[in-house]
Amino acid sequence: MTIQATHTFPRNFKWGTATAAHQVEGGATNSDWAAWEKLPGKINDGGSAAVACDWWGGRWREDFDRAAADGQTAHRLGVDWSRIEPSPAAWDEDALDHYRQMVKGLRERGLEPMVTLHHFANPLWLMEKGGWENVAAVGHFERFVRKVVKALGDYVDLWCVFNEINVFAYFSYIDGAWPPGKKNIVAAFKVARHMLSAHAVAYRAIHELQPQARVGIAHHVRPIDPAKPEFALDGWTAKLQYRLFTETIPQALHTGRLLFPIGRLNERLPELAGTFDCFGINYYSRYHSAFDLSQPGTLFGRTFHPPEVEQDHLGLNELYPEGLYRAIKWAAKFKKPILITENGWGDVDESRRTRALLLHLRQLWRTVNFNWPVQAYYYWTLVDNFEWERGWSQRFGLYELDLATQERRPRPAAKLYAEICKANSFSAEMVERYAPELLPAMFPG
Ligand code: FCB
Repeated sequence: MTIQATHTFPRNFKWGTATAAHQVEGGATNSDWAAWEKLPGKINDGGSAAVACDWWGGRWREDFDRAAADGQTAHRLGVDWSRIEPSPAAWDEDALDHYRQMVKGLRERGLEPMVTLHHFANPLWLMEKGGWENVAAVGHFERFVRKVVKALGDYVDLWCVFNEINVFAYFSYIDGAWPPGKKNIVAAFKVARHMLSAHAVAYRAIHELQPQARVGIAHHVRPIDPAKPEFALDGWTAKLQYRLFTETIPQALHTGRLLFPIGRLNERLPELAGTFDCFGINYYSRYHSAFDLSQPGTLFGRTFHPPEVEQDHLGLNELYPEGLYRAIKWAAKFKKPILITENGWGDVDESRRTRALLLHLRQLWRTVNFNWPVQAYYYWTLVDNFEWERGWSQRFGLYELDLATQERRPRPAAKLYAEICKANSFSAEMVERYAPELLPAMFPG
């Protein structure tokens, strides 16, 4: 009899998928993203989230059924602030009830909800008041958070305050591809600074309303390696970019020190210290960085994927599973439970999607064996969704979505993921069936 080598995960490990309100719901009218995607040229493929996965029309039910049938035990979803509070302090109770039904629906299916309170999209009225550049956003956000926690608290005690402050500040205020489309590094710092304050305020408000709550963030972690390690300036710029992009935000929330490497500005913000109970990692890829004097906006580093590395069909992400290991190792220093709040692979090549899943889970398995406190893995994402400025050109779903008919079709990765969730492990035999080319490296024998 052949012995089956198996990579097993800890008992009670949570398996799920992650989604964001604007990307799946459809029918939003009151947010900056709903307005932005109507402007010509803003979405690469001309798509929009007008219908998306039609969760606002009720298709969340069938998708949660799929997740549950596939053995998932957790789901990370977002709420859209612009629906709940369509104008300042005016609450849409129907929208709140809609979300209440959704989180109740998750519980009924045995899926633990994690609710993200801010995932890129903002109410138009907030943006008219200066958005996150205006410190008043902090108070507005606190009022919104209190309302949501009171409305959903019967079903939810795991909260993610912000999704990827670093990515939001970069794309909305430095790169300009996202609303409000600014290219102003000073504004980006201001926005990040205000979001950090809002995080701390929300953290305390949630705990006041719900003492047993677990409150965290979802942080985009991206290793940045020097293009030529032997070239000191590449090393310098890669390190600087990594510190600013990956380390600044969590460090501020951990220690209460805002360390921007520019000008050695070292501001103390003691009220931020210790404001997360769990740390969420969103991991997709790494960058290589080369020193380039013509790129002051990105700290004199030109980031890129070298042609020899394996990439998705758009060249947006490098297939670099070890980065997930590095991200977890780095986050373990906070000594808090770690959740992989997003990880996935958007591609047109199904065999690469399946292989990517296995390779990343292999790295995840390595980390749990070091006893690093990883408690959950949320795959991005359940069903193809609206991928921001990339529209529908980058598809991450375990299920393929036919936008015209709203039909969902499981991809091979959906079947593999379901097997893994149900078994809480993956075996050499699964690898042989789904990605035999990985067998010699993963399970030599
Ligand atoms: C992350 C975002 C998420 C999704 C994935 C692919 O940066 O949090 O909304 O777009 O990338």
